Amino acid sequence: MLVLGIESSCDETSAAVVSDGARILSNVVASQIALHRPYGGVVPELASRHHLKIINTVVTDALREAGATLDQIEGVAATCGPGLASSLLIGLTFGKSLALARGLPFIGINHMEAHLISPWLSAGRAFEPNVSLIVSGGHTMLVHVRAIGDHTVLGQTTDDAAGEAFDKVAKLLGLGYPGGPEVEKAARSGNPAAIPFPRGKLNDPDFDFSFSGVKTAVLYWLRKREQKEKAEVSSQKSVIRSQKPEDGSPSPASDAPRSTLNAQTLSDLCASFQQAVVDVLVGKAIAAALAMRVRFVTVSGGVACNGALRDQLAAACRRNGLELLMADRKLCTDNAGMIAGLGWHKLHAGLRSPLDLDAQPNLRL
Ligand code: KG4
Ligand code: ZN
Repeated sequence: MLVLGIESSCDETSAAVVSDGARILSNVVASQIALHRPYGGVVPELASRHHLKIINTVVTDALREAGATLDQIEGVAATCGPGLASSLLIGLTFGKSLALARGLPFIGINHMEAHLISPWLSAGRAFEPNVSLIVSGGHTMLVHVRAIGDHTVLGQTTDDAAGEAFDKVAKLLGLGYPGGPEVEKAARSGNPAAIPFPRGKLNDPDFDFSFSGVKTAVLYWLRKREQKEKAEVSSQKSVIRSQKPEDGSPSPASDAPRSTLNAQTLSDLCASFQQAVVDVLVGKAIAAALAMRVRFVTVSGGVACNGALRDQLAAACRRNGLELLMADRKLCTDNAGMIAGLGWHKLHAGLRSPLDLDAQPNLRL
């Protein structure tokens, strides 16, 4: 069975064709990052307008890349939540209209549930019980997955998502958007032990997360440093003022630039922040897998592109006798491959959604 999947929950317009529940024949992702970059975050109105503009082209490209025609598609799956209402509506309405026009079965997909299967699609392996870490800009959660469609949320963030913390810290530091990749780049030449940022909830017995503390700790660290620099500059000024020539020519200190971090301090700060986040994600994921007595840990979501997280999670799994499945980077971030993959399984099991299914921005797992 060939299933067409459509994803438009946030700022990626994506369409994919999947066969046999595990084989991705195409997975076209049109990112809107450049569109939202000047605003430092996703602007919902711009996102939905852009989805509308390009969705037909993206679906056509996905069919062409898969070497399939619409006549060969046997089912349609589209994300129905969670996400931005105005963005969800575009892909969902497109998918339902296509299904209606072609007389095809339709299924609405929970975007978070689709993240749970992306590591298995990446690996091309049959599904096994696992603990799954979903770590993105909007969510950070640990899920015990017994089978496709049978799962329990073990814990999630009580405030910021991990990706949100990366983005906010990048903004504080004047780095680009989205922040995660920029922080990771800067962290590469930094010392992760330079600044002891807090590891929120790491030692709590539950599986919830909290990342607002580490973000605030970065803010306070920067403020403290700025105050210290100001104090140093003003003490230099008073020394220079007492040596100032009588002709009134400007003193060098009055032209001093506003305090900025030098490259090494910026790298140390980014590496220390990243390490604090990674320690918590790895520690909690391992604890959950051991508590649930599963053999597999899986990870997906945009933050799962982070090299430090991938390396350290792999090492921790090896130490604890666990197998790790990580989604390929393209399947980590939002994409329709995972929507079509989960849709295939649901349609194959005989599940259908009504064509009056509405977008559900706050849909939960
Ligand atoms: O899954 P995703 O594409 O979209 C949703 O949020 O659903 O994830 C985007 C998030 C952003 O917060 C971005 O900064 C973060 O993933 N991210 C990263 C990296 N690449 C993307 N965070 C840390 N390191 C990265 N390499
Ligand atoms: Zn996502």
